[in-house]
Amino acid sequence: MPNLFKMSKKPIYILAIESSCDDTSAAVICNNKILSNTIATQEIHAEYGGVVPELASRAHQQNIVPVVQQAIQKANIDKKDLNAIAFTRGPGLMGSLLVGTSFAKSLALSLNIPLIDVNHMQGHVLAHFIEEEGITKPTFPFLCLTISGGHTQIVKVSDYFDMTVLGETIDDAVGEAFDKSAKILDLPYPGGPLIDKYAKLGNPKAYKFTKPRVGDLDFSFSGLKTAFLYFIQKQEKENPNFIEENLHDICASLQNTIVTILMDKLKNAVKHTGIMQVAIAGGVSANSEIRKRLKDAEFKYKWKTYIPKFEYTTDNAGMIAITGYLKYLENNYSDSSVSSNARMKVDQKD
Ligand code: KG4
Ligand code: ZN
Repeated sequence: MPNLFKMSKKPIYILAIESSCDDTSAAVICNNKILSNTIATQEIHAEYGGVVPELASRAHQQNIVPVVQQAIQKANIDKKDLNAIAFTRGPGLMGSLLVGTSFAKSLALSLNIPLIDVNHMQGHVLAHFIEEEGITKPTFPFLCLTISGGHTQIVKVSDYFDMTVLGETIDDAVGEAFDKSAKILDLPYPGGPLIDKYAKLGNPKAYKFTKPRVGDLDFSFSGLKTAFLYFIQKQEKENPNFIEENLHDICASLQNTIVTILMDKLKNAVKHTGIMQVAIAGGVSANSEIRKRLKDAEFKYKWKTYIPKFEYTTDNAGMIAITGYLKYLENNYSDSSVSSNARMKVDQKD
């Protein structure tokens, strides 16, 4: 197991590229400290109410050169200083992944430095190892609830690259539950952050939504989404202005239901494993209510909890950079024939 704190005498500079979905991001890391983390968010998808894969890959092609240039400039280094190039291999949208993969390959080749492929899901988890003032890093083993637009899983993290999925969603991801419910409320994509914003002003107990009944550590969100749709349709029949007049209470109640589901599953996972170190990761870990409930669990259940800095929650190249650095320490480089993998699992070994 690499010891980060002893092995960082010589500065190692790594450029990381993340292009798995609809954000083009590049970061430069020096050992385990992020020097720059630039992100170009693709606004175009908001017009369509969700990510359009064709448009995403085209936008990555347009953004990648300026985003990488900006990351290098902000880090105040020269390309020649780089020791390796890390990139997201998967999972994600194939067209989007291909843009980052081929860019990283050609840059590594032209600079004659190692190429490191990174599993995006491991990246979300390992973002907890970025050196940040006031942030404590977890020790092994810990549990990580990874919640994003594409994934909902509880992972047992035994070592940097030894992760086991204990439970996951059998249908929609939690981010989808937020975004699809927001769409029902006529809110623009991605709706998760807006539900969070309006929920702050509402009563979380105003409406009750039934929680799904699935296996101990698994999740299901598609039933909740349908129940939410029927609830809104019924209320609108009685009062066409129902959403407008009750938006804050609706968002607070929905968010309360979703976060309670997540916390209940985490409690089950702690009970099953006896592991009381609990982390959250992924875009939905930016949600203020899950952050608050996790913090409360420190006092309530005596857990030790780890909440990532906002900039490392939603997709970003910083998390790819730290994962690349950890692989660099193990000389775990990729062959130039490495290909994108849209369906990569967090516990995939090759
Ligand atoms: O990790 P991420 O950036 O992309 C994926 O890998 O999927 O996660 C994006 C998801 C979206 O569904 C978005 O609505 C959700 O994270 N999200 C939030 C919040 N911020 C982002 N959901 C609830 N509350 C938030 N504050
Ligand atoms: Zn992600």
